[in-house]
Amino acid sequence: MMSRVYNFCAGPAALPEPVLAFARDELLSYQGMGLSVMEMSHRSPEFEQIVKEAEASLRRLLSISDDYHVLFMQGGATLQFSLIPMNLLRGKKQADYLVTGTWSEKALEDASRLCRAHCVASNQAARYTNIPDPSTWQLSSPDQSAYLHYCPNETIVGVEFPFVPDVALPLVADMSSTLLSRPIDVSRFGLIYAGAQKNIGPAGLVIVIVRKDWVGDVIPGTPQLLNYQEVAKQHSMINTPPSFSIYLAGLVFRWLEAMGGVSAIAAVNERKAMNLYRTIDESEFYHNPVEKSCRSWMNVPFTLKDEELDVLFLKQADQLGLKNLKGHRLVGGMRASLYNAVPEEGVAALIAFMKAFAQKHG
Ligand SMILES: Cc1ncc(COP(=O)(O)O)c(C=O)c1O
Repeated sequence: MMSRVYNFCAGPAALPEPVLAFARDELLSYQGMGLSVMEMSHRSPEFEQIVKEAEASLRRLLSISDDYHVLFMQGGATLQFSLIPMNLLRGKKQADYLVTGTWSEKALEDASRLCRAHCVASNQAARYTNIPDPSTWQLSSPDQSAYLHYCPNETIVGVEFPFVPDVALPLVADMSSTLLSRPIDVSRFGLIYAGAQKNIGPAGLVIVIVRKDWVGDVIPGTPQLLNYQEVAKQHSMINTPPSFSIYLAGLVFRWLEAMGGVSAIAAVNERKAMNLYRTIDESEFYHNPVEKSCRSWMNVPFTLKDEELDVLFLKQADQLGLKNLKGHRLVGGMRASLYNAVPEEGVAALIAFMKAFAQKHG
């Protein structure tokens, strides 16, 4: 078999190798049926079972109660930026947004086409390297605003909330790059959404976990396909769903359960991230600008002492099978994304390379 690289891409990101191997083995003939999941009717009992099992596994992983719908939708996390106000304003004209990076900024921008999107606080002036002090947030009252939207892990700048905001407004969270990386208390949220291409599965699929008593009061003109209540009623199958993506997500959930679940993977994730941050902090050569209290476990951006060495760094890393380390164009430098499927050996290999590179060029 062709050897696999260590993939530090921010998304679409590394998937667990055993999952890919398992899917490969039953690609031509799912459970002896003589056809692949991609070729199977989404109305067949076999596919219905795949969806049911994927949902049940996710519910077990995150202890999602019966008070919540779990929806498999399309359009990535970006479409949710609009669906959230369409579905969750519930008669109000305003929603609150906390801006801690590019993704929460985009969410606010899209929401502002549909409602008054009130910016509670923004740390743009600090180049998104910290979380604005909660005592400075200009929150609206629950009479005025329908919810508070925030992004617990900003993938581009690598800022992660070490706490869940304690506010009167119901919380809506874009967990695209953190869901399943550490335990969360779902009951603290009205709605959680996550694009699949980080810790879940193929891009395009998006997971929505929403309180059942929150859905149904959509803004006029909302298409059926974008209406959470309708999607829930028809078990995420109003139209042909992204069937292979749901199947693969189900395999990833099963893999995570076999790994010991979210708490077990969180311990590994913390170790991976702390080892890398330690390497950065202990060197004079690398730098991470994010305030220590809110550094992401999933996305670690860093710069080199001399920007002119970036190309050489990336080339040599690539030759060693350390792939996709180029930072986002808005931030520059490097970014190592350390999602669940990135093994500890991969992070150790990256650290060894970084140390050797710094020694040679520092
Ligand atoms: C936190 C966050 N939100 C939203 C998105 C957008 O996701 P999509 O490309 O699936 O629309 C991303 C993409 O990387 C992201 O990291």
